Amino acid sequence: LITDVRLRRILDSRGNPTVEADVVTESGGFGRAAAPSGASTGEYEAVERPPSEAIAAAREDAVPRLVGEAYAGNQREVDAALHAADGTDDFSEIGANSAVAISMAAAKAGADVLGAPLFQHLGGAFRGQNFPIPLGNVVGGGEHAADATDIQEFLVAPVGAPSVEDAVFANATVHSTVADLLEERDVPCGKGDEGAWAPSIDDSEAFEIVDEAVSIVQDEVGFNIGFGLDVAGAELYDSDAGTYEYSDRSRDTDEQIEYIAELVREYDLVYVEDPLDEDDYDAFADLTDEVGDQTLICGDDLFVTNTDRLVEGIDRGAANSILIKPNQIGTLTDAFDAIELAAQNGYDPVISHRSGETEDTTIAHLAVATDAPFIKTGAVGGERTAKLNELIRIADDAT
Ligand code: PGA
Ligand code: ZN
Repeated sequence: LITDVRLRRILDSRGNPTVEADVVTESGGFGRAAAPSGASTGEYEAVERPPSEAIAAAREDAVPRLVGEAYAGNQREVDAALHAADGTDDFSEIGANSAVAISMAAAKAGADVLGAPLFQHLGGAFRGQNFPIPLGNVVGGGEHAADATDIQEFLVAPVGAPSVEDAVFANATVHSTVADLLEERDVPCGKGDEGAWAPSIDDSEAFEIVDEAVSIVQDEVGFNIGFGLDVAGAELYDSDAGTYEYSDRSRDTDEQIEYIAELVREYDLVYVEDPLDEDDYDAFADLTDEVGDQTLICGDDLFVTNTDRLVEGIDRGAANSILIKPNQIGTLTDAFDAIELAAQNGYDPVISHRSGETEDTTIAHLAVATDAPFIKTGAVGGERTAKLNELIRIADDAT
């Protein structure tokens, strides 16, 4: 039984305040978790409130429904109490940031009561034995860096890696090889919010450099490394003009579909996230028809971890993969329901960090618990390596 829920403001990786929750149980269980925060957020995400307001609202409405009332190990009960306390369909009352911090902290307290690691508590005895392949962000721009690439994230996916550890180190090696190649070309650059290099180059040069870095590292490590993208299409889309606005030109929707399909073929992309606007299920369906058998077409802003939006996508054949960010929907129960619906319909779930992160490692456990084929959590930087290192530890414990 939950005996205490404490909420506080802590720093995220951008230096902004975010919500941290502690959950304590009668039998001495303890869980602590913090909410991440997006910059290129989807329009249909659950609502993040300013942390001080979210904390005040959750203390008033949610904490009394949990303390002495709910069991930390009963995730559905905890998350139903959060929904009841909030009373809206987008967590605009207690804030999705308070909700997700409490939901994840309760899961950790539940695991602690059992003396089980979090992935085991969440996944249970019948979980799959696979480990997720980390998608590493090596070059980026968009909303995550000023004056860098149009495409938000150039990702690498060590699909042939024999272990999680090999995969994590391969991504870090590609990241540093990209830096060497940029230096050879005399391109100065810093890093974006997720630790990817943020050079002031156009997308075609970024494709060249990442492609070259991948070949170099592939030869070095001796296994296959795939190439992927998060286009963050909604950020490029001008809805009045009906066009995708790149630095050097604009593309209408048909041209955007053709452009992405060509990139898939030219670079053998294994993963393409949000290639199109978050409202355009039809365009997603057309692109999925064209290249969905060769690559994952993943909906992030399109689906926002929301089962209603995923049902719409399934009905219309839009995408074949869904990005899972617990804070987009507010609770672990909602995230699990989205993962289960996706799996039942042949959509691959990809578990993801946000651009604003903390040291919290819940998503590493979530990916292992749900047998997700991929996890997107950066390549370098403390708040990113917190998750990657946790994956290495889980693999070490579990195998
Ligand atoms: P965000 O971006 O966390 O800033 O929303 C990440 C993404 O678009 O996947
Ligand atoms: Zn995205």
